[in-house]
Amino acid sequence: MAIIIDGKATSLAMKEELKGKIDAFISQTGVTPGLAVIIVGNNPASAVYVRNKENACAAVGIHSETFRLAEETTEEELLALVRKLNADEAIHGILVQLPLPSHISEEKVIASISPKKDVDAFHAENVGHIMIGNYHFLPCTPAGVMALLERYGIEVAGKHCVVIGRSNIVGKPQAMLLLEKNGTVTVCHSKTKNLADITRQADILVAAVGRARFVRADMVKDGAVVIDVGINRLADGTLCGDVDFEAVKEKAYAITPVPGGVGPMTVTMLLYNTLTAAKESLK
Ligand code: GUN
Repeated sequence: MAIIIDGKATSLAMKEELKGKIDAFISQTGVTPGLAVIIVGNNPASAVYVRNKENACAAVGIHSETFRLAEETTEEELLALVRKLNADEAIHGILVQLPLPSHISEEKVIASISPKKDVDAFHAENVGHIMIGNYHFLPCTPAGVMALLERYGIEVAGKHCVVIGRSNIVGKPQAMLLLEKNGTVTVCHSKTKNLADITRQADILVAAVGRARFVRADMVKDGAVVIDVGINRLADGTLCGDVDFEAVKEKAYAITPVPGGVGPMTVTMLLYNTLTAAKESLK
C-alpha cells in the first residue's frame, strides 16, 4: 500500500507558514497583499473554487475582492474591469476564473492582465519567464505538485517523469517545472500511441487528463509516484480523479488522493503568488 500524499495537511501547514510571512510583511511595510478574483457566469464548479479562494485569503490575511459578473457581460466590460484593477494600488494579484463564457476571448483577457499582477502565471510574458527558468510566479497547480514532491522528499533529478495532458494550465508548465528539477520528461496526450507502454516507464506519473479513472493499475510501474491532477464529478455527484486510486495505490510507492491531494495545494500556491506580487510591487 502506497504512501498517501496528503495535500490537505500539506496545504494547511503551508498556509500557516504563509500567514506568518504575511503578518511580517504587513508590519514591515504597512501594505496588505490584495487579490481580485473575477468570475463571469454561473459555472457551479467555478463558483466553488472562487469561494474556496475567498476563504483561503481570509485565513492568511490577504485582502480579497470578488467580482461576480453576469453571464452576458461583454468582453469589453470585462477588459475594462481588468484595466481598472491593473491600476488599483490595493490589488496586487488579479485572477480571472476560467473557463469564460464562449463569447469572451480568454486569450485577450489573459493578455490584458498586467504581468506583474498575473498570479495565475498565464500571461505570455510569465509563460516565457517559466520557459527560461527566471520567474516570480509559477502556475498554481503545477507549483502545488512540485511543492508536494518536495515536502514528501521525492527526488525528481534523473527520474523519468511522464505527464499525461498538454494544457497551458497544467501539462505544459508541469513538464517545464519537472525539467527544471532535472527530470527526464515525456509529455503524452490524446494522439500519443502506445500510451500505456510509456506510462509504465514513469518513475513519476502526473495525470492531467480530465477523464475519471483514466489511469489504470496496468499503466503504472511498481513503486512509481502517481500524482493525480484530475477532478471529475461522477454521475452520483462524487468526485474522483484521473487515476483509479483504489487499484493504483496497491502498486505505487506514493499517490495523491482526490479530493485532498493536489486540489488544496492549488489555492495555497495562489496565496503565495499574491504575497510575491505584493513584495514585487514595492521594488
Ligand atoms: N480554472 C481552473 N483552474 C484554474 C486556475 O488555476 N486559474 C484560473 N484562473 N481559472 C482556473
